[in-house]
Amino acid sequence: MTASKRKKLLAGNWKMNMRLAEIEPFFTAFSAALRPGVSNHVDILFAAPFTQLHATLAATRARGFAAAAQNMHFEASGAFTGEVSAMMLTDIGIRTTLVGHSERRQYFAETDDSVAKKTITAISNAVTPVVCVGETLEERKSGATFQVVSHQLGAVLNALKNHGPVQNREGFYPGDLSDSIVIAYEPVWAIGTGLSATLEQAQEVHGFIRKVCDEILGSEFAVRARILYGGSANPANIAGLLSQPDIDGGLVGGASLKAADFAAMCNAAMS
Ligand code: PGA
Repeated sequence: MTASKRKKLLAGNWKMNMRLAEIEPFFTAFSAALRPGVSNHVDILFAAPFTQLHATLAATRARGFAAAAQNMHFEASGAFTGEVSAMMLTDIGIRTTLVGHSERRQYFAETDDSVAKKTITAISNAVTPVVCVGETLEERKSGATFQVVSHQLGAVLNALKNHGPVQNREGFYPGDLSDSIVIAYEPVWAIGTGLSATLEQAQEVHGFIRKVCDEILGSEFAVRARILYGGSANPANIAGLLSQPDIDGGLVGGASLKAADFAAMCNAAMS
């Protein structure tokens, strides 16, 4: 499968932003700035805080976009105060979640092990995990980027491989695992800093990620899996990023809070 066959995915990560009253006005402005037909060619997704998911879901459904959670727990239920399960997400119609965002790893003790468990639980419940990986500045400076990324990604892909067929009500896997998981490369030093990776740096790691996918889950998965870039992606750099052969979309933080900016990025993904 060539890069052009993988449908582009632009995912906004609102983080802990967007009050309820801001949601409808955001989508009104966003839709108005979107070129006609973009959502037929580009998957557009918004990862909202739990309490905003109902409203985000209603607003996105009505317009042909999708809503996602930013996290979930790997257990089905139990004594996990403050957590939300995959089934609770599907109860309200959420079918995608971020998993292992670097802010979860950094501030909330998310580990490779919990990310792997969440990935399997998500897929088992027909929730698509957007699995985030990426190195810190120190790791990049010390030449450990590939090692860190392959370790983080390896934990997830090997867990999937060792788990064997994941049954879910839609029979996604082993049918087509590449439709059931999205990978996001987010260099930690580029997140929220205004300092995006260069096109060369981003493509180099994306190509490497596809190689790791190939090694662990095989070439069919590797050629089909979508790999998003995240880290200070914006309207000025998105077209260049998306022109790279192994970059299939963006996970966008700051710029996804500005309706016109994010719409411009989605428009760029269509051309
Ligand atoms: P940013 O965030 O676009 O603001 O750098 C990206 C992310 O954390 O997903």
